[in-house]
Amino acid sequence: MKTYTNNQEITLKVNGEDYNVVVKPNETLLNVIREKIEMTGPKPGCENGDCGACTVLVNGTPIKSCMSLAVDMENKAITTVEGLKDTEIQEAFIDKEGYQCGYCTSGFIVKAYSLLDKYEKPDEDTVEEWLSSNLCRCTGYEGIERAVNKVIENR
Ligand code: FES
Ligand code: FES
Repeated sequence: MKTYTNNQEITLKVNGEDYNVVVKPNETLLNVIREKIEMTGPKPGCENGDCGACTVLVNGTPIKSCMSLAVDMENKAITTVEGLKDTEIQEAFIDKEGYQCGYCTSGFIVKAYSLLDKYEKPDEDTVEEWLSSNLCRCTGYEGIERAVNKVIENR
């Protein structure tokens, strides 16, 4: 494992594009994506790993970008909600009204996308468990579940 003590220039691959950024050793991936790459899909919510609003994929695995250091993300494929434009799950969120204020939505779409990538037809318990990492203050989760179920039913 490399140890950084000073600002470091690194290359991050986000949604298939390379971005050269100078980061502090303790800077989170969330902060770098939002402030330096200027993609605002991942949201700062709790910033301590509880809410999932900041969820992105790293090499296909969902992670909470507020809990990850940017310096650890070189040579990894990062996907934000911006990279999931026009996917079935994004369209299902719109169709089934899986949002109200929308603050949690990008995190839920990324998490749901990874669920549906991993499982062809996940059962109810699996969906519930998978989405339990993310919090929503508005919807009561019903629209979110309808969106996920729409994609499952279409398979
Ligand atoms: S902002 Fe990252 S988990 Fe809440
Ligand atoms: S839609 Fe408002 S927090 Fe989820």
